[in-house]
Amino acid sequence: MIHIGIVGLGAIGQRLIKQFMEHPEVEIVAVCDQFESLAKETAASLGDARAYTAYPSLIADEKVELVYVAVPPKFHHSIVMDVLRAKKHVLCEKPLANSLEEAKEMHEAAKEAGVVHAMNFPLNYGPAATKLTDMIGENYIGKLRRLQLTMHFPQWPRGWQQNDWVGKREQGGFVLEVGVHFIQQTLKIFGDIKNIQTRLELPADSAKSETGIIATAELEDGTPVLIEGLSQVAGEEYIGFTAYGSEGTLSLENWGHLKGGKMGEELKPILAEDVTPNRLIDELVKAVKGEVAELYDFEVGYKAQRVLEELRKI
Ligand SMILES: NC(=O)c1ccc[n+]([C@@H]2O[C@H](COP(=O)([O-])OP(=O)(O)OC[C@H]3O[C@@H](n4cnc5c(N)ncnc54)[C@H](O)[C@@H]3O)[C@@H](O)[C@H]2O)c1
Repeated sequence: MIHIGIVGLGAIGQRLIKQFMEHPEVEIVAVCDQFESLAKETAASLGDARAYTAYPSLIADEKVELVYVAVPPKFHHSIVMDVLRAKKHVLCEKPLANSLEEAKEMHEAAKEAGVVHAMNFPLNYGPAATKLTDMIGENYIGKLRRLQLTMHFPQWPRGWQQNDWVGKREQGGFVLEVGVHFIQQTLKIFGDIKNIQTRLELPADSAKSETGIIATAELEDGTPVLIEGLSQVAGEEYIGFTAYGSEGTLSLENWGHLKGGKMGEELKPILAEDVTPNRLIDELVKAVKGEVAELYDFEVGYKAQRVLEELRKI
């Protein structure tokens, strides 16, 4: 049994609690949130778990072997660094940190600590994105001509993620919050991203996050990457990650829907029923046991952060 402690019990913290609870080899033994009532209620819903309001106490709790950090990005660095000093395993939410310097320090410290360090990049554990990766690997599209990420939000922050930070420039904005997932996919499937040129649309209130982006970049071999996004825009929310190739096109739409077609065909839905991706918590458990596991570690988080900071540059 692996004993988990969770810091941050908001939207995503609660989402992962459900995933942890489904795993027979994992037990949540402690939870922490700055809001005492939230910590106590969550602990009570888990039965025996201890409730903390100060994260150092959770890290120091002898029962806790792995800490899941699900607080807003500004607090990832200080909490993760303390977890690593205590030589405990750590799962951190994305983005890894709130700056490239912080991300570098966390990556270095994780390597030295000799513990399991992983990030929650859920696309890697989803059927549609896994199918996209497989089909690119099988050369479905031929030679890649252009990669395009489109992010349109009628409302930012989105309805399900209303909080005081995700709409602020300091640690929020859709480029960071949503873009990071697709930057990580790009790095994984297509390799490094270079020559980033970005143009942000920023609101008059400088505390608020971007409302638009048009950015261009290149893969190692010069293949163009186009990133465009708008918030507070008419129409439906749409996130498209599209690879245009010499023989066909594949597009991952709204996280979980894959579409594709060969030259001369229309793009049609592609089912991912034949794909059974690994699951994050299974892989975490394997890694803690010293087995080979599919995890996306702090090195992946650091590399994605490097691209994100360039994209967010004013
Ligand atoms: N992997 C994903 O798909 C995904 C999706 C959404 C959010 N996230 C990431 O998860 C993190 C949290 O996002 P959220 O939407 O759950 O935010 P949230 O604001 O809903 O929740 C954060 C919680 O952390 C608590 N908190 C803040 N500082 C704390 C501290 N120092 N000590 C203890 N508790 C503290 C807050 O009280 C709050 O309950 C962010 O890094 C975000 O980018 C990841």
